[in-house]
Amino acid sequence: MFMNFRRIHKCQCVQLLTTGLLLCVVMVWWEELDHHMTHVKSFMYRYLINSFVFLSSSLMITSSHHHGKDASNSVNGAIGNYPYLINHPNKCGGGGEDGETWDDVLLLLFVKSSPENVKQRQTIRDTWGNESFVRSKLGVSIKVVFVLGIHPDVMRRSRMQAALLQEDHAYGDLIQQDFVDTFYNLTTKLILQFHWGHEYCPLAQFFMSADDDVFIHMPNLVRYLQQVTSSQSGAKDMWVGHVHRASPPVRYKKSKYHVPYDLYPWPSYPDYTAGAGYVVSGNVAAKIYHATLMLNSSLYIDDVFMGICANIMGISPQEHVYFSGGGKAPYHPSIFDYMITSHGHATDMHSFWQAATDPTVSRSCKGYMGNLYCSFVRVMLLCLPRFQNTYSCMAAFT
Ligand SMILES: *[C@@H]1O[C@H](CO)[C@@H](O)[C@H](O)[C@H]1NC(C)=O
Ligand SMILES: *[C@@H]1O[C@H](CO)[C@@H](O)[C@H](O)[C@H]1NC(C)=O
Ligand SMILES: *[C@@H]1O[C@H](CO)[C@@H](O)[C@H](O)[C@H]1NC(C)=O
Repeated sequence: MFMNFRRIHKCQCVQLLTTGLLLCVVMVWWEELDHHMTHVKSFMYRYLINSFVFLSSSLMITSSHHHGKDASNSVNGAIGNYPYLINHPNKCGGGGEDGETWDDVLLLLFVKSSPENVKQRQTIRDTWGNESFVRSKLGVSIKVVFVLGIHPDVMRRSRMQAALLQEDHAYGDLIQQDFVDTFYNLTTKLILQFHWGHEYCPLAQFFMSADDDVFIHMPNLVRYLQQVTSSQSGAKDMWVGHVHRASPPVRYKKSKYHVPYDLYPWPSYPDYTAGAGYVVSGNVAAKIYHATLMLNSSLYIDDVFMGICANIMGISPQEHVYFSGGGKAPYHPSIFDYMITSHGHATDMHSFWQAATDPTVSRSCKGYMGNLYCSFVRVMLLCLPRFQNTYSCMAAFT
């Protein structure tokens, strides 16, 4: 009797367990399936239909909002162009009253910062953002500015603002507008960059936008940009970075990147580069500037908004395998020779800069044996799943 009872109990237990397990599998599978379906839909949209013509008709600010010749200005008032709290109109030269003289700027680099990220800014000034290092060692002129809004916490705002003014007094490289610096205002920050560039640094050959936890291998980047300018097509119609193709909007409500249907009803975004770091040529920057004047900027995911602006202006992004979309570059000399950006550096920026720009480091990849060894290591580092987030396996073979 007792045995029997135990057997029944055991049976039920097993039954219950299997049912539970089955349910779990279905649930996991369901989410996977849903995820895959979203991507399949997005890919079909992007590659079969491949028409984003609806963007300009749907997102263009309608003529009812325009009023005569001041149309763009009035629209701007509604979507961006907050007053500057800290500004450096003469950062790129152009100061003279009669006939402006601009510096010969190769690259204007915007670092997307926030009021409290003092440490990150200092680290960047000390490492890859050192303008005088670039001028003396690489022989070109770059301008690095930090773009930010105001602190979201009203209680801490005035103290924070005083500290920012002091910091700017010492370094003269902050650009601040009067909007609250939050994730949902990133598109406002993007618009600030293109408007500032248009107004105060219009002759820079290239524009770059980067997060403040991104590492940029400045010597490699400068070399690459110089190659582009001396190539046949020159520094025109270029938008380069880590490209997201056929990304579907995130509809999962708890995600940071959630976008509701009424903001973007279509199953796929136009191609765009990861906001962590990308470069555009001067003429593309001008086109994006003009797009921001015409478009509804409610979509708060800044890199997607950039993709929409570019799509409307007929520009598509180009992939560069050594621009990181998310992850950190593997820490090895075989990578240092090629890398452009690497993402997620909070504390190791100094050591990474030291290692990546040390002239003795790249020597280990020189010569026949060195080259062979480094090629092998690169394949090991990039093609094993461990580092798949940073550079694609393809990067090992370029
Ligand atoms: C920037 O680079 C210059 C020239 O290499 C160097 O003298 C200076 O100390 C550097 N500044 C910082 C803050 O590291
Ligand atoms: C963006 O900044 C504006 C201006 O300060 C503010 O009114 C708005 O609430 C901010 N938006 C978000 C989502 O933080
Ligand atoms: C922009 O789009 C949002 C959301 O679709 C809408 O609420 C808003 O009125 C639009 N703004 C303009 C200026 O068209």
